[in-house]
Formats: sequence, structure tokens, C-alpha cells
Amino acid sequence: MSDERFLEISQVVKAYPNPFGEDIAVVDGFDLKIRKGEVISVIGHSGCGKSTVLTMVAGLNEITSGGIIVDGKEVSEPGPDRAVVFQAPCLLPWMTAYENVMLGVNRSYHHEPKSVRKQIVEYALSAVGLAEAMSKRPHEMSGGMQQRVGIARAIALKPKVLLLDEPFGRLDSLTRMELQDVILELLDRERITTMIITHDPDEAVFMSDRICMMTNGPGARVGELMDIEFERPRDRKEILGTDQFFEYRRRLIQFLDECEHEKEIRRELKAGPQATKDEPPSQTSEPNPESKTESRLAV
Ligand SMILES: Nc1ncnc2c1ncn2[C@@H]1O[C@H](COP(=O)(O)OP(=O)(O)OP(=O)(O)O)[C@@H](O)[C@H]1O
Ligand SMILES: [Mg+2]
Repeated sequence: MSDERFLEISQVVKAYPNPFGEDIAVVDGFDLKIRKGEVISVIGHSGCGKSTVLTMVAGLNEITSGGIIVDGKEVSEPGPDRAVVFQAPCLLPWMTAYENVMLGVNRSYHHEPKSVRKQIVEYALSAVGLAEAMSKRPHEMSGGMQQRVGIARAIALKPKVLLLDEPFGRLDSLTRMELQDVILELLDRERITTMIITHDPDEAVFMSDRICMMTNGPGARVGELMDIEFERPRDRKEILGTDQFFEYRRRLIQFLDECEHEKEIRRELKAGPQATKDEPPSQTSEPNPESKTESRLAV
């Protein structure tokens, strides 16, 4: 095992049956090697297969073919070496923040004395800014605070790999930025190898060392990889105004537009020549002068 290939996703295929019972490869030949301590974002259009890849790395979703190796060990089931944070944290409503985090710690650290487990939980909750809110129950917390508990629960397990599936997707933009900063600080301190799924180009550039752009499905795979060369720790205000930031962002949006364009061509081909016979020349045969992705982001 090398640190350059700490997380290896090799030629992974995932097929689901369609309504006619035929297997369709949603993801086909997905191949990505992630360095130890690297933060990588996966970006792509809705439905392309981002969560499918993440849940296969988590061991929650069976791999049809290919393989995934984490720190030299093949993934075949979920394990505490891979912690997952989804859009909603799914906390137990009758338990406090402290108890919710302790639940997983008790399972993974059952061999440690109670005082050590207490320290782990307190450290994790403090690291996400909840030192003063440990005794609150979910209904006493905002959505952002609940998501912080979800993140604390994940990092308390000291995972080798942190898997975040649109962790800020349900939060308003201010809370979203706060939490991005919380996670960035955490990752700077802990250097956890991290995969973040996102729809948001700005978030991808701000958070990542590298961005994996995924093509549209079916048969989705890695389309392009882009290194983000801002130094860490990162300062949002410094980064956001730079030409380099806009250049990275421009490339991402261009990639997403190209995928959209390709999808439209595929749709037209599937519909056949009859469908477009009497219509004016196709709007989709040339790349759009105005970015659809950009206008969607502005909404
Ligand atoms: N259990 C399943 N059975 C059949 N098809 C599935 C199943 N789970 C996902 N799919 C299909 O696989 C494709 C990829 O789904 P996935 O959830 O991975 O996409 P995504 O990129 O995460 O989308 P989003 O950005 O909307 O979250 C979709 O077309 C979806 O309908
Ligand atoms: Mg998803």
C-alpha cells in the first residue's frame, strides 16, 4: 500500500436492473486513486451516479465488478474506517448531542475505558463548535447544529476515510459557509482522506485539493480531474476574489455544460430523425452560448 493510492477505486461498475429486468450499468469503469490526506470533490449532474460511487466506497452498496481498496484492504462491507455523512444526520430524537455521538464511539471503542470514550466524544463535539450544546436534543438544535453533530459522530470514529454526500445540501447559504469552514479547519488539523460529493462548483473549488468531474450516466465514469492549487489553510475571502478561482470555476461549469449538451444530443438521437424533422435547426447541435449550469446556479 502506498500513500499515493490510499483509496483505490479500480474500474468499478455498478449495474441496476431497469423496469424490464435488464441490467443497466449506471457507473461503468470508474477509476480513481486518492492520496492519503487528500480532499477530493466529486461533481456531476444529478443522477449521474455520485452517491452510487460513494456508497460503494462506504461498503453500503454492492460493487458489480471492479474493486475498491482502502489502506490496502478490499472493501466488502461497511466499517468504522469509513465514516459517512449524508444530507440529513438522522439523529436519535430522544438522545442528546453527546449521547448521539457516544452511540458510535461505544461500538467502535468498546475496549477503551469510559473516561477515554468521554474524551473522544467531547473532543469531536468541540471540534465542530458544539462544546456548549452537548446536552441539547435534536429538536432544540437548528439544522446546521444537527449536521454538526452528524459530522462529530463521523470524526469521533477516527476514520481513515471520510465520505460526505452533499453534507450542506439542505442548509441555507450562510450556514453552509459556516459548516464548510468547520470541515476545512477539521481536515487541516486531522488530514483525513476525504471524498465530498457536491453540485456546487464554488464549494468544490474552495474545499478540495482535486476535483473529479463525472460524466453523465448511464455508464458514468471520471471525465476529467483538476488539481486545485490553493495552499492550506485557506481563507475564503482571499481565495474567492482571485483570477485562479474564477478559472477553476469556469472549467467546472464548462465541463458540466458539455455533459448537458451531450445528454441533449443523446436524447435527440434516441428520439430519431422523425422527432426533429419539422422543427427549426437544433438548439443543441452547438454548445450553448449561455451556460445552463451558470443560470441554474444563479437561481
Ligand atoms: N437502488 C437502485 N435501483 C435502481 N436504480 C438506482 C438505484 N439507486 C440509484 N439508481 C439509479 O442510478 C443512477 C445514479 O443514482 P445516484 O443516486 O448515484 O445519482 P447522484 O449522482 O448521486 O444524483 P443526485 O445528484 O441527484 O444525488 C440514477 O439514475 C438512479 O435512478
Ligand atoms: Mg446523490
